[in-house]
Amino acid sequence: MTDIGIIGGAGYVGLVTGVGLATLGHKVSSMDLDQTRLKMLKNGKSAVYEDGLEPLLRQLIDINQISFTDDQSETVRNSDVLFIAVGTPSLADGAADLSSVIAVAERLRDEIRKYTVIVVKSTVPVGTIGIITDILSQKLRAGEDFDVVSNPEFLREGSGLVDFFAPSRIIVGSTSERASKVLREIYEPLLQGTTVVAVPWISPEQEIPYVETDPTSAQLTKYAANAYLATRISFINEIAGISEKVGGNIGDIVYGLGLDPRIGPGYLKPGIGFGGPCLDKDIRALVTVADENSYDPVMFNGVIRRNDLQMREVMNKISSAVGSSLYRKRIALLGLAFKEGTNDVRHSLSIRLYRALRDQGASVVGHDVLAVEEARELEPGLEASTELTYVLKGADVVVALNSEQAYEEIDWTIAGMPNRPPFVIDTRGILDLAALETAHIRFDILGSAR
Ligand code: UDX
Repeated sequence: MTDIGIIGGAGYVGLVTGVGLATLGHKVSSMDLDQTRLKMLKNGKSAVYEDGLEPLLRQLIDINQISFTDDQSETVRNSDVLFIAVGTPSLADGAADLSSVIAVAERLRDEIRKYTVIVVKSTVPVGTIGIITDILSQKLRAGEDFDVVSNPEFLREGSGLVDFFAPSRIIVGSTSERASKVLREIYEPLLQGTTVVAVPWISPEQEIPYVETDPTSAQLTKYAANAYLATRISFINEIAGISEKVGGNIGDIVYGLGLDPRIGPGYLKPGIGFGGPCLDKDIRALVTVADENSYDPVMFNGVIRRNDLQMREVMNKISSAVGSSLYRKRIALLGLAFKEGTNDVRHSLSIRLYRALRDQGASVVGHDVLAVEEARELEPGLEASTELTYVLKGADVVVALNSEQAYEEIDWTIAGMPNRPPFVIDTRGILDLAALETAHIRFDILGSAR
């Protein structure tokens, strides 16, 4: 059992990591500056929705396995290992904003009193481990008072606990054997499948690859993973665009393509493009790193450009569906979060689409299962509801933006009533086409000619 502190413990990555490590039997002190979130967490409530998180959190609080505080000095004093999970948002030029990481390092430099392993969980550009080491070395001795290691997270929102307890791999980048040993001990219970509270996400057969490498390679592995995923989405969106022009059916193409075991069926859904807090931010940061090192990342620039154009494709579809100006046209957006299964609207392309439509005078109504409150908070002018029937009522155009299962089951015979039936745009290929045809509803599927 290790005493672990999480700096940025109320954020998405910090919270899932803290809860995960506490479940493995470590004593976790989660530190954050966000008072509202801390207050909620102390009462077992999480601001981010994650399947199964709150009940587990409450169990861990009850048995004193995890605690929450805003006092960094206390967390540092009580911990042998500190996980840094503060945010690294994009700056205007695409580079990662390291100011929070630097501020944390400057405080650690003054607060560390015994050998402490600093584990960087946040996705940070290559070179950041060096910056943190330099800051700490102003007062402390590397290797004796501290070591800094990289242990990138691969958590998908909505599947965070699965990704923590059944990860596809654990990657640790370190130049210190002492620190590497500490990390191996921390993850040992996970590799053995032992936890203090029973959780359903660990399977007895699971074998988790544990990769030890240098910090640069560990950080680049994370960027490479997200750049690859972003590339896959821009790739399929580009195929969808070509398919639509030449008369193909994207659903059949994706199915046929995914049958090649080298390609596989997952993560090939066309749509409005990739949103969310990670893919866009990380691929832009990777492009900046390449530029700074005099390397021209032609492919990744193309991936970003396709994603920006994809949004316009959807906007153009809506404009051609209404045939005239968007002014006072009622547009129903199905899916407000950046993807299904999450309440995160911060980097949602649906919200960006809402703003573009609103700016042209459209009256927009949005549906989401989990993110209605968050969407209203972010965009008070957006009419948002969890009631599908209400959202569809009177719509001139309905746009399906994510793969929420409820959208597959819509009863199109009553949609749009009492007006004339709406025009439907399916960006995800999830709607029931037979039901749309039966209801005599005109529709357009992204990637398929009709
Ligand atoms: C991603 C990575 O998957 C995760 O490993 C990393 O650590 C953080 O970033 P996340 O941002 O939570 O996770 O979501 P993800 O499920 O990857 O989806 C990202 C975006 O791509 C969403 O907007 C989603 O709708 C879109 N997407 C995903 C598609 O358009 N098509 C797909 O086939 C898959």
